[in-house]
Amino acid sequence: MAQQKTLVSLDIGSSKIRTIVGITQEKKNLINIIGVGISPSNGIRKGMVTDIDEAVSNITASLEDAERMSGEPIHRVFVGFSGPHIETYDSRGVIAINGPNAEITEDDVDRVLDAARAVSLPANREILRIIPKSFSIDSQHGIKYPVGMTGIRLEVEAHIIAGQKASIKNLEKCLYETGVDIEEIIPSNLACAETVLDKKQKELGVVLIEVGACSTNVALFEEGTVVSSAVIPVGGEHVTNDLAIGLRSSIETAEKIKIEYGTCLPGDVSDREEIDLSKISKSDSHSVNKKQVAQIIEARYHEIFMMVRDELAKVGRDGQLPAGAILCGGAVKMPGVIDLARESLQLPVQLGFPNDIEGIVDRVDDPSFAHSIGLLHFGNRYGGSRSLLDFDFRKMFGSLSDFFKRLLP
Ligand SMILES: Nc1ncnc2c1ncn2[C@@H]1O[C@H](COP(=O)(O)OP(=O)(O)OP(=O)(O)O)[C@@H](O)[C@H]1O
Ligand SMILES: [Mg+2]
Repeated sequence: MAQQKTLVSLDIGSSKIRTIVGITQEKKNLINIIGVGISPSNGIRKGMVTDIDEAVSNITASLEDAERMSGEPIHRVFVGFSGPHIETYDSRGVIAINGPNAEITEDDVDRVLDAARAVSLPANREILRIIPKSFSIDSQHGIKYPVGMTGIRLEVEAHIIAGQKASIKNLEKCLYETGVDIEEIIPSNLACAETVLDKKQKELGVVLIEVGACSTNVALFEEGTVVSSAVIPVGGEHVTNDLAIGLRSSIETAEKIKIEYGTCLPGDVSDREEIDLSKISKSDSHSVNKKQVAQIIEARYHEIFMMVRDELAKVGRDGQLPAGAILCGGAVKMPGVIDLARESLQLPVQLGFPNDIEGIVDRVDDPSFAHSIGLLHFGNRYGGSRSLLDFDFRKMFGSLSDFFKRLLP
């Protein structure tokens, strides 16, 4: 019987900090959610720590809530973070094979990934993940797992996700002060995919779009793996700021208007509907036109989706993904977002909810929990590895855990 493990995820967002405690189940993909802790995030801006004391106090509150609910003390966490400081690169590594019979070993895969990792990054960047997209042996391309095959030249096409060193260090410092150890730091766009996308979508070709408060994370999957990813520095907070400027209201009132009355579809709103701000705010007393609110919201969401479309165009996938786009993150809860995204991206679009969970599911059945639940699944599947090979390969080649350990820097 598979041993059950308790895993904890900590999604450090710019608007919320979410801790989730889950227990892995005998059925390999299922996680039983037993604790949830949510706190506001006041010391983090754009994915970076701006006030250590505030961040530590918010993280502690979130951890303590989850501990109370689950009855489990938290010692180690899978940390997820995102933000415009995350950058992605494509890289290539090549090595000669010189073992007996020219058979490729796990060490060779290790070496070729190291060669791809040796890309010249700016000094202030740190690699968070290296994802092998495909291997080539001599002139044979498109190999997913080369160990055991024969050849004299092994090549890898890899995708690298890197973060700003200082931001990662500051985050580590905050976690150190809260007294929990970091199991791993995992970029958001990889984590969300683990719970929101299914295997078939990843095989066919799909783009995952997570619209958070400060940024929008985009990850493109084909043939089962990430082939490209990007972070766009615009999110739900920009929608709120536009409303505050356009309606001459405070940011707090703009956020309330957005959540209570917002829609991406101005065509569905009558010209005459007014919102009396004195009903939702102490500081604002004028009325605003509901159609104007929808127009402001539509303009910013349209801009976000067109930026995603530009990213897809860069890799030749604009309007051309069989499994379409899946949306997650807090900001995709805006009414009308699916219609607007479908029109802007020219793709089929669906909302992405966390999957493969049981327990207190009602607390997390929401696209804004995709990141935190995805972190648990990611930790369960690839925990301890710095590279990312398809889960099934590990199953097939059972002894791969040593291989993953060797990939740690
Ligand atoms: N019902 C809703 N309708 C529209 N927008 C919403 C709704 N609920 C939350 N949002 C917006 O979603 C954003 C927060 O999303 P999320 O919780 O995914 O962000 P985060 O993880 O804290 O931030 P980030 O990932 O950018 O660091 C905010 O801008 C908020 O206004
Ligand atoms: Mg987030």
